[in-house]
Amino acid sequence: MSDNVLRLSDITMQFGGVVAVDNLSLEVNEGQIVALIGPNGAGKTTAFNCITGVYEPTNGQVSFYDKVIVSNYPHGKMKKLYKGSNADKYVHEKILNPTPDKITRKGIARTFQNIRLWKSMTVFENVLTAKHLHAKQNIFTSTFRISHAEERRMREETALLLEEQDLLRFRDELATSLPYGLQRRLEIARALATSPKLLLLDEPAAGMNPQETQELGEFIVQIREKYGVTILMIEHHMDLVMQFSDQIYVIDFGELISHGTPAVVQADQRVIDAYLGVVEEDA
Ligand SMILES: Nc1ncnc2c1ncn2[C@@H]1O[C@H](COP(=O)(O)OP(=O)(O)OP(=O)(O)O)[C@@H](O)[C@H]1O
Ligand SMILES: [Mg+2]
Repeated sequence: MSDNVLRLSDITMQFGGVVAVDNLSLEVNEGQIVALIGPNGAGKTTAFNCITGVYEPTNGQVSFYDKVIVSNYPHGKMKKLYKGSNADKYVHEKILNPTPDKITRKGIARTFQNIRLWKSMTVFENVLTAKHLHAKQNIFTSTFRISHAEERRMREETALLLEEQDLLRFRDELATSLPYGLQRRLEIARALATSPKLLLLDEPAAGMNPQETQELGEFIVQIREKYGVTILMIEHHMDLVMQFSDQIYVIDFGELISHGTPAVVQADQRVIDAYLGVVEEDA
């Protein structure tokens, strides 16, 4: 068995006439921390949305542990409009109907570029509710009730998760009352509540200062070890990306322009011209 966790093959996402992701292929292997970087508007979040069932890609295939979970080709109205490549390659694939909850159930969890915590819930409730939803989705019945024993187990797991993230002291605070950096950590804790195999982080260090960013990098390495998760992250903080990634993929205008270890990518003239030469701190 290969140790491949995620594979994107020729993924193109076209909105009307706009090609946001253009024939992107990438691989993430077991236990790796992989970064997806590129200028604003390069298509990074759109790529995440194609993996997580928010969008069905116009063309291409997504595999998770060597099983195809998403597959599509330009058909219907898009057949004529399509500007990407490989339009014929996936013609015989069955079209799935991926949705975010189905993808989460398969073991992929994510955080969002703009934090999406449940605003009226406490820190504890944010994580516990994620566990409840996940448990219900896994049972597939509308009559499912969580037993007392199950509820107790979930509460214990939630407390443990928060303790490990050093968030337990805030358990009864409203999630949105936490400082920004801790809200980002809480969002990661909530993503971990669904016991994912793969964690997708969309700009986890956005808005953090250099010290918080460094701590977040160390935290990401810790959760990889502790929870056995594989990580694909989008980031603009190059110090974090270069220090903590095993592999980096660079996209510009939706297209892959470089890929390799931090040393390789950092020295790639195409990356310097398109991105690193003009990299800005995120607001
Ligand atoms: N639903 C949509 N409809 C039309 N165009 C879209 C849609 N979603 C994204 N786009 C376009 O796709 C391109 C890529 O956007 P995306 O948000 O993926 O960029 P990004 O790399 O995540 O940028 P940033 O670093 O600023 O977050 C942009 O030109 C954007 O306007
Ligand atoms: Mg984005």
